[in-house]
Amino acid sequence: MSNDSRFTRRHFMRFCATTAVLAAGADPGAFAESDARLRRYERVKLVDERDRPITAATLKVGENYLFYYPYVATPCFLLNLGKATTAASLQTEDGQVYQWNGGVGPHRSVVAFSAICAHKMSHPAREVSFINYRHQPATFVDAHDNTAQRGQVIYCCSEKSVYDPVNGARVLGGPAKQPLTAIVLEQDKDGALHAIGTVGGEMYDKFFERFSSRLSLEFRTNDIRKLVTGAATVKPLVAYCRNQILC
Ligand code: FES
Repeated sequence: MSNDSRFTRRHFMRFCATTAVLAAGADPGAFAESDARLRRYERVKLVDERDRPITAATLKVGENYLFYYPYVATPCFLLNLGKATTAASLQTEDGQVYQWNGGVGPHRSVVAFSAICAHKMSHPAREVSFINYRHQPATFVDAHDNTAQRGQVIYCCSEKSVYDPVNGARVLGGPAKQPLTAIVLEQDKDGALHAIGTVGGEMYDKFFERFSSRLSLEFRTNDIRKLVTGAATVKPLVAYCRNQILC
């Protein structure tokens, strides 16, 4: 499929969504580019390095997995938290309220989030990652300036933003002003996991603007905005990134 046809399809889906809103008499601005509700991208199957489907059962509890979605250069964490998640009503920095419906799999314990920090967009690169999932207890300063300790957090050591993946990647502490963008997952009848879109405050335009040169070199393409189609390969973060900075 050409890039043009991919964009045509995406825009067509947005057009359909907008048309549905207009038909319902809702605010047409509600489906603007910055809308925090479900944005559907390509439905992409998650596979391992041998193209075998990823299911909840194939994900080790506590392992920090990485894949790229919805674009070829935008990293996401995939996590089996090993505990139940709870749906959450969340808010973006510009005040848009959205609903995160929890994970998938047993106890809804499998979740995915953009690995681009909502503060200054620190993200995993081949040489180093300052943002990581911490299954074991980590110490941080919470939103009330108290020292807190807990596991199952996503911790960005750049300026110490901490997110709660059990609760939609809500901000627990640090300078980030909104949750990480959530990747919406679906399970098919065989248990295979698929990514279908995002909810929450996307930062992709800013991300591409700021990091385009480095991303082009790292991904050996000028088309860093190419959408992922078909399948996305999931690997442990350690298999992708040489150094992980933990704080
Ligand atoms: S970039 Fe993550 S805390 Fe600043």
